Amino acid sequence: MRKRVALALVLLGILNLQVANAQVIKGDSIIESLSVESGDPVRGRAIVTSRQTGLCLLCHSGPFPEERFQGNLAPELKASVARLNAPQLRARIVNAAHFNPQTIMPSYYQTSNLNRVATKFAGQTILSGQEIEDVIAFLVTLNNE
Ligand code: HEC
Repeated sequence: MRKRVALALVLLGILNLQVANAQVIKGDSIIESLSVESGDPVRGRAIVTSRQTGLCLLCHSGPFPEERFQGNLAPELKASVARLNAPQLRARIVNAAHFNPQTIMPSYYQTSNLNRVATKFAGQTILSGQEIEDVIAFLVTLNNE
């Protein structure tokens, strides 16, 4: 049993490595999904509006009538989604600094070239690959509203 657990952990490690390698920005896009499971728009909405995980509304605004306090430091999300497709959104959420080295937007899926990372968080991304896919799955639904 112990051996099986150890083997599973090794396999997980390999999977994680593959995921971490998949974030190459070509042109202005990341074509490949960051997760095995497809994104879930309901979970994605919860992440975008969350004050703990996504924190997107600290800076962005969007069609979220229940959220009284929304940011005005960044583009309105529905307008951005109208001109960016899923691979373009993925690249911007993974590594906003690739597009503007001075941006205040966090790079949600980077572990290197970051500033001011507490030691206990070193090597960790802000959101998991699955969470980013959930966010993208939600954002693209804004085009249908
Ligand atoms: C601390 C502020 C901040 C947070 C938090 C933040 N962003 Fe941003 N975001 C920005 C700014 C500012 C820009 C404009 C790009 C720049 O800085 O050059 C931007 C740009 C973007 C863009 C590209 C917009 C366009 O029209 O080109 C997308 C998409 C985006 N953010 C999505 C998100 C999502 C999704 C989250 C949460 C997971 C998030 N952002 C969290 C500040 C933020």
